[in-house]
Amino acid sequence: MSPYLVTRTLPVNSTDADLRTDVLQGLGRGPKSLPPKWFYDARGSELFEEITRLPEYYPTRAEREILRARARDVAAATQARTLVELGSGSSEKTRILLDALPGLHSYIPVDVSESALALAAEGLLAERPDLSVHALIADFTRGLALPGTPGPRLVAFLGGTLGNLLPEERAVFLKSVRSMLQPGDALLLGTDLVKDESTLVAAYDDTAGVTAAFNKNVLTVLNRELDADFDPDDFDHVAHWDPRQEWIEMRLRARSALTVKVRELDLAVTFAAGEELRTEVSAKFREAGVRSELAAAAMELGHWWTDSAGRFALSLSAPG
Ligand code: SAH
Ligand code: AVI
Repeated sequence: MSPYLVTRTLPVNSTDADLRTDVLQGLGRGPKSLPPKWFYDARGSELFEEITRLPEYYPTRAEREILRARARDVAAATQARTLVELGSGSSEKTRILLDALPGLHSYIPVDVSESALALAAEGLLAERPDLSVHALIADFTRGLALPGTPGPRLVAFLGGTLGNLLPEERAVFLKSVRSMLQPGDALLLGTDLVKDESTLVAAYDDTAGVTAAFNKNVLTVLNRELDADFDPDDFDHVAHWDPRQEWIEMRLRARSALTVKVRELDLAVTFAAGEELRTEVSAKFREAGVRSELAAAAMELGHWWTDSAGRFALSLSAPG
């Protein structure tokens, strides 16, 4: 068994620097917001995995169904020798793709969560000793330096994580994905679809309270990393469907007026009673929107596959 390689493109202290900037910008003035990437410390990654098994959280099951039905089509269309996966997390669904790609040489999972990457890479190494696994600890919204591996290259971005970027961020991000592709390469993109509000809200506000714990975990991250004194019990978990933007917003709502100290930043953050901090958007898509966002980044949507209930889509696109 060959050991897998890990490359950290985030300098050791860059997480600190980014977190400081995001907290100063996001909590220093209203309306308050934080980027969702800060959910994913080791505990946050575990909680996300728990979310994927909840009865209300359909996206993972729906995407798995499509992958099972279409992995061979993806293999035939791409003949990929390298699979790059952005925001790979546990790489659990990815195994369906890995098993279907006969000539695959390299798998490059990319994630900010070091613990999720390590678990996934170790598991894969045991199952697929033939595969070269090069884990990248990196922020996929920053330029990625990918290792030189054999093409064709397939870039996968699964789970609907594209929807966690704001529209302007998505446009920049998709252009950076396009720059990873040469003729003959492809993008496999998972997108959750617009559907009725009750299904969506239940998926982000489950009865067991796992999504609430995931949401509040960001406060624990700030307490640990920036010596803040958030009490998670001072906040309520909120999942709100915005029909105009067609996205779910996760928020944390202050139960009463309070002040939080962020000692590392010498910052006092005041919340009015009922004031909300936006912690995530999770955009839901339609085929025409995905096609046009890809076209704006010089990619052409070739296949559009949905699960049998039409809840989630997987699309395969080529550089245009
Ligand atoms: N693809 C998996 C995991 C989705 S959860 C699935 O479909 O189940 C989202 C993943 O993206 C997490 O593992 C999180 O750590 C990672 N992530 C979030 N923002 C990121 C960023 N800016 N750069 C790299 N990884 C990020
Ligand atoms: C990772 N991402 C696609 C998830 C989503 O559904 O937007 C994160 C999540 N947030 C709450 N539940 C799951």
